[in-house]
Amino acid sequence: MTQDELKTLVGQAALAHVVPGEIVGVGTGSTVNKFIEALGTMRDRIPGAVSSSEASTARLQALGIRVFDANEVGELAVYIDGADEIDGTGCMIKGGGAALTREKIVAAQARKFVCIADESKRVEVLGGFPLPVEVIPMAAAHISRRFAALGGTARLRLKDGQPLVTDNGQHILDVTGLKIRQPLQFESDVNQWPGVVTVGVFAHQKAAVCLLGTAAGVVTLDYAS
Ligand code: 5RP
Repeated sequence: MTQDELKTLVGQAALAHVVPGEIVGVGTGSTVNKFIEALGTMRDRIPGAVSSSEASTARLQALGIRVFDANEVGELAVYIDGADEIDGTGCMIKGGGAALTREKIVAAQARKFVCIADESKRVEVLGGFPLPVEVIPMAAAHISRRFAALGGTARLRLKDGQPLVTDNGQHILDVTGLKIRQPLQFESDVNQWPGVVTVGVFAHQKAAVCLLGTAAGVVTLDYAS
């Protein structure tokens, strides 16, 4: 199976976690796009969604799924999103699609994070994928020096030759060369640095379940217990 087929498989499998009658939290990315397509078949059984990006909002609305502002709704039953990496405890690196801040907000609003990913995302230690960090632009150089002190190399993410601007009007640093062996502590520490909006380690908002697309089919990894 191709990576695209694995993404379709887990996107469809995630429908089993959508609670009829409840608003669903929706992430961002190519795997989530498969989920959104599948969610279209359930649109009459849910009031709508809370979205983590302008891109996902546009896709949801195109399928006739109502998108609620996060402030309009209370706790969500479930948040469904992809990951750039996921370790053996459900901690993740996210933000490859630059939507990490809104993703973390919607994930925090949900009782359960269901991660959908193909098997290439499963790692032993987080850090192989460049760690996305959303930053206030004036702090980018200072934050880059702090990562250098940890052995990392931070690069400003560009789009069409210009700094990428997130949905929140900020910039993204992608940091290579880190091995994140204590994700909870790392996330807490980096989030305290002045100018960091969101670090793309999801340990406080880790996955409760991962639907992993493998050659043998969808494997459910349960991290809740
Ligand atoms: C976007 C994300 C995505 O979930 C992550 O990048 C995985 O994307 P894809 O499903 O396209 O591999 O965090 O900010």
